[in-house]
Amino acid sequence: MKYRILTLLATVALAVLTSCGGGESVPVELSIIPNPVSMQGGGKGVDLAVPGELPAVKTSIDASLEPEEYVLDTRKGKVRIKGGSEAGIFWGKQTLIQIVAQCGDHIPGVLIKDKPAFAYRGAMLDCCRHFFTVDEVKDYIDLIALHKLNVFHWHLTEDQGWRAEIKQYPRLTEVGSMRAETLVGHYGSDKYDGTPYGGFYTQDQMRDVVAYAAERFITVIPEIEMPGHASAALASYPELGCRGENYPYKVQTTWGVFPEIFCAGNPKVITFLEGVLDEICDIFPSEYIHIGGDEAPRDEWEKCPECQALMKEMGFTREAELQSYIIKTIEDYLAAKGRKIIGWDEILDGGVSQSATVMSWRGTDGGIAAARMGNDVVMAPNSHYYLDHYQTADPAANGEPLAIGGYLPLKRCYAFDPYENLGDEEKVHIKGIQGNVWTEYIASYPHVQHMLLPRVAALAEVAWSPDCRTSYEEFVKRLETALLPIYQARGCNYADYAFKGIE
Ligand code: ACM
Ligand code: ZN
Repeated sequence: MKYRILTLLATVALAVLTSCGGGESVPVELSIIPNPVSMQGGGKGVDLAVPGELPAVKTSIDASLEPEEYVLDTRKGKVRIKGGSEAGIFWGKQTLIQIVAQCGDHIPGVLIKDKPAFAYRGAMLDCCRHFFTVDEVKDYIDLIALHKLNVFHWHLTEDQGWRAEIKQYPRLTEVGSMRAETLVGHYGSDKYDGTPYGGFYTQDQMRDVVAYAAERFITVIPEIEMPGHASAALASYPELGCRGENYPYKVQTTWGVFPEIFCAGNPKVITFLEGVLDEICDIFPSEYIHIGGDEAPRDEWEKCPECQALMKEMGFTREAELQSYIIKTIEDYLAAKGRKIIGWDEILDGGVSQSATVMSWRGTDGGIAAARMGNDVVMAPNSHYYLDHYQTADPAANGEPLAIGGYLPLKRCYAFDPYENLGDEEKVHIKGIQGNVWTEYIASYPHVQHMLLPRVAALAEVAWSPDCRTSYEEFVKRLETALLPIYQARGCNYADYAFKGIE
């Protein structure tokens, strides 16, 4: 009993010393998102010559800090930011941007010590269902940097369009980047717009995006889908599909999951995928390459003589093992280049090697199963981080634009526990979280912003400082002070439902 009281007292004392943004011993009226790990008022602060303009900052590197950690100090009349690396300094500057936006001509004296809980803090943009220009992609990168995310997952290949120039396979963009027309309205409608639609990124443009992101300490992870979501690739090179070179594959004009799939039994498919990945690895220096793996129906493999012959040769009893075979072959190929694969949770079907990282999207079950097997995991559950879902309970009454479905209010994004149902040994495998902006129903970039903002702010706090979360109501107040002025100054088309109390 005595021991328990002592432990309790020790816990309370620690809470005061290391308190999160809200509960410091010397209070300071600043709103920051993500809420910093520690924030303490004191000292004279900094006068701003031009309100709203960033003051001069004295920066330094402190090797005792973790690479992304920073210390921001305004107590002695100047702004000082120490970082564990340049990345830490950059995150400190993002905090300063929020402070300046809310402080008029004087920044109060404050000492902020801050670092991220998760190493992987991501956001995906699907540039296939709809195409976004390089400038729009860069704006997306700016926005996620503002929220201290450090991964941009770039979805580049799909049934409805292949977006990455590959020099060895020019038809991917000559043919695969264009669809004949696009469905109008929701899935199930029978109306099409009759207008060809397409676009792609040249290799120079992709390199430019990688460099732009790197200046913001953001890693770009490209996604090349296999073995499903391959219609655009098969329209370009029909000989790579189970239906063969005489089948009129097409770049899809509607949404959903299609049976067309790469032929697992055709060795040219592996040659093709490796050739594509050679060029992708040349452009993208990221350790991770995303290989998709989701929603790959196996019906064509069941009927295909080549696929069945390979199963017999390999002693496979289930078509799921063909999926594993492709993923494993590609994983080995990338490993020889010093890269690692990450894939959607379907890569668990048929078995996956320990070195693959699993992106859990069908809820968290796949991620939990993977962590239990010792695989690394990024949680991107559709229950909390599919940012293409509706933001209010009554989309029609609230004037929400057409969305794929679902209901994902800001409050829900804020309430996610990445460690739910995991023991200590499994928690170490949760590398982070990610939000996904799929764009079947998002045809313009302002609409992307509407889906991203402000839900990405809630995701950012879960990724950066989950233990420093406040009540949801406090979070919304902080959001209005810390980020809303910045969204407005940038002319962002953010969603305002939460600010109006609409859920
Ligand atoms: C996915 O949403 N198909 C990963
Ligand atoms: Zn086949």
